[in-house]
Amino acid sequence: MQQKLQLINHGVPDEVIANLKNDLVEFFSQPLDAKKEYSQLPNNLEGYGQAFVVSDNQKLDWADMLYLQVCPTDSRDLRFWPNYPASFRHSIDAYSSETENIGLCLLQFMAKAVGVEPKSLLSVFEGQARGLRMNYYPPCLKADKVLGLSPHTDPGGLTLLLQVNDVQGLQINKDGKWFSVNALNGALIVNIGDTLEILSNGKFRSVEHRAVVHPSRERISAALFYYPCQDMVISPLPDFVKDGKVKYKTISYQDLLTEYFTAELDGRNRLKKMKLEP
Ligand code: OGA
Ligand code: NI
Repeated sequence: MQQKLQLINHGVPDEVIANLKNDLVEFFSQPLDAKKEYSQLPNNLEGYGQAFVVSDNQKLDWADMLYLQVCPTDSRDLRFWPNYPASFRHSIDAYSSETENIGLCLLQFMAKAVGVEPKSLLSVFEGQARGLRMNYYPPCLKADKVLGLSPHTDPGGLTLLLQVNDVQGLQINKDGKWFSVNALNGALIVNIGDTLEILSNGKFRSVEHRAVVHPSRERISAALFYYPCQDMVISPLPDFVKDGKVKYKTISYQDLLTEYFTAELDGRNRLKKMKLEP
């Protein structure tokens, strides 16, 4: 089951979404020096900068980002939380608390839909960390020569993606072809990540996707990642291995995350290496 769905009527108040959107546009419109106050530090994933830079001779993605761990609240590293615009911290806080249950509800529905006890998935993600990656894609006159974000799968369980302005750019790969996703205004695009594919023994498939850029307009998006327990070892859950055939290797969640953030993005290949031979 490979899924990409858009959630509307999700219950996050319009105002919370509008505030986050406004503050993101405002934050990214600042001069570089102001944003650099929140720059990523070595060996730390959080902060402002460019994602997935691992060597000098790699072709870079046409994007900046601000990545923050938003939950649990006591794990927040406020050094990286911008204090301009003045309401930004509050906007992020409100958005992350309003979205807390959405992912957890979805996981339970998904388990139910395939005849698995909802608690099995819920217990992996409930109360665990969530990260918010805010992406800024500048316009590029040669938009067809660059990618905003190279093909990849997301590492966590679920991702909820909010498109911040009305410029489209998300594409998903299905059977080797790229399809554009027309993000509905205010919708949350739901994306299955690698952790969920492994936990579900392949019942749910992590979606390969990328972002393209626009020739004359900037594009902004915010991806909220639901992570499992940080010291978890990930392997297919017994509830999903009813016929006894385990299809994935075991990996510690930390290793999975490190591989994701420290290697060049490479479509579904990272995940393919996790598959046991048929
Ligand atoms: C991501 C992502 C797509 C987009 O942040 O993981 O896939 O449209 N973003 O910005
Ligand atoms: Ni992604």
